[in-house]
Amino acid sequence: MKIAIIGSGYVGLTTGTCLAELGNTVTCIDNNKEKIQILNNGEMPIFEPGLAELVKKNVSQKRLFFSTDIKNAVKSAEIVFIAVGTPPKPNGDADLSFVENVAKEIAKSITNYIVVVEKSTVPVETGEKVARTIENSGVSRELFDVASNPEFLREGSAIHDFMHPDRIVVGANSEKAREKLEELYKPLNAPIVFTDIRTAEIIKHASNSFLATKISFINAISRICELSGANVEEVALGMGLDRRIGKEFLKAGIGYGGSCFPKDVSAFIQIAKKKGYDFRLLKEVEEINKAQTEFFLKKIEETVWNLNGKTIAVLGLSFKPNTDDLREAPSIKIISALEKEGAKIKAFDPAAMGHAKTFLPNAAFCKNIYECLFGADAALILTEWDEFKKIDLKKAKQQMNTPVFIDGRNMFDQKKMKENGFNYISIGR
Ligand code: UDX
Repeated sequence: MKIAIIGSGYVGLTTGTCLAELGNTVTCIDNNKEKIQILNNGEMPIFEPGLAELVKKNVSQKRLFFSTDIKNAVKSAEIVFIAVGTPPKPNGDADLSFVENVAKEIAKSITNYIVVVEKSTVPVETGEKVARTIENSGVSRELFDVASNPEFLREGSAIHDFMHPDRIVVGANSEKAREKLEELYKPLNAPIVFTDIRTAEIIKHASNSFLATKISFINAISRICELSGANVEEVALGMGLDRRIGKEFLKAGIGYGGSCFPKDVSAFIQIAKKKGYDFRLLKEVEEINKAQTEFFLKKIEETVWNLNGKTIAVLGLSFKPNTDDLREAPSIKIISALEKEGAKIKAFDPAAMGHAKTFLPNAAFCKNIYECLFGADAALILTEWDEFKKIDLKKAKQQMNTPVFIDGRNMFDQKKMKENGFNYISIGR
């Protein structure tokens, strides 16, 4: 099929590339000329394992194109995906102005029947508003359908998640649109939940909010574990083996971050409020998440004591491993708070340091783990990169001023750290 994807961020670029890999002819559009130029030069604007290779392959096989020109791409497409950003407004509402602008742009170019699919996470009823916007721009109802097809891929494993989804959700109010999307996704051989547009929109919000709830739940349990001398890792294992609970997303840490959970949870609270429901459970999920970062800061202060003039080594900056993304990364909040107290920050991240310089102008960025640990009064682990698991503890200890590890991701065995002479502090154990 001929596909146009409007918005070439994480979701748009991965979706477009994977759909090309499935044999479709895809044009990824973005209004950011620089980004399109980067892609047309064979480079990548984001770091996502495996994506560069897949882009290269599909470009060379002439199935994947990049352009700033919505018109031409939409004119010849059978399906157009809207994958633009829906950033939060100061009150937590999602800002849908990009979605509206794109809907108007699409409307200008519709000549043959097309399915307009919302991929961005949007509040319930956005699909209907997109349809109204296109209709109000003078396009006849027979020439288009709107569908909701939320994306569940995770950064860091985006291609695998797209190619092997647990389920695909298609919300459409017409049989024609359903059939088109069924045909498109057939090669993935995954269960498809067909429903109406509003239900599909809610499925996306409910799924992300539920996962965030799971994380806040285990973070709350980690606090109780610390107070009662239990071990949260073992509690999570004991709970997670119950298939009704499941072992995923029960990892206690320094709170969830990223471009989705913080934004989507607060947007869902706003959506519920507008509809007349006070979603107190989700408000508490947000509170626990905020408190978890603050609690981690308290741990640092208790261990290091006076922060003024101390050197703190930070290992890991991205909001999760295998990405260079720093959006809503707990590291930013933690480092800024430590710097305010007068601590000197040395940082190392395998992928995110390029971006980090703009967020953290006062930190010193190091070439590797050991350079980062050199002269440190304490080391913090803020992202669970695989590379950190392989740290040579003896060498690490020699580099540090004081052998203190404060691990926000529970990466190391407590006994082993003690045996190696470290004062090792972790979460919930
Ligand atoms: C998430 C959803 O998983 C995905 O389905 C949706 O499409 C987009 O949002 P993403 O933000 O890429 O994906 O990352 P994810 O792996 O879900 O992690 C989000 C945050 O939760 C990270 O900060 C991570 O460190 C944290 N997390 C995750 C935990 O603290 N504990 C866990 O057990 C799992």
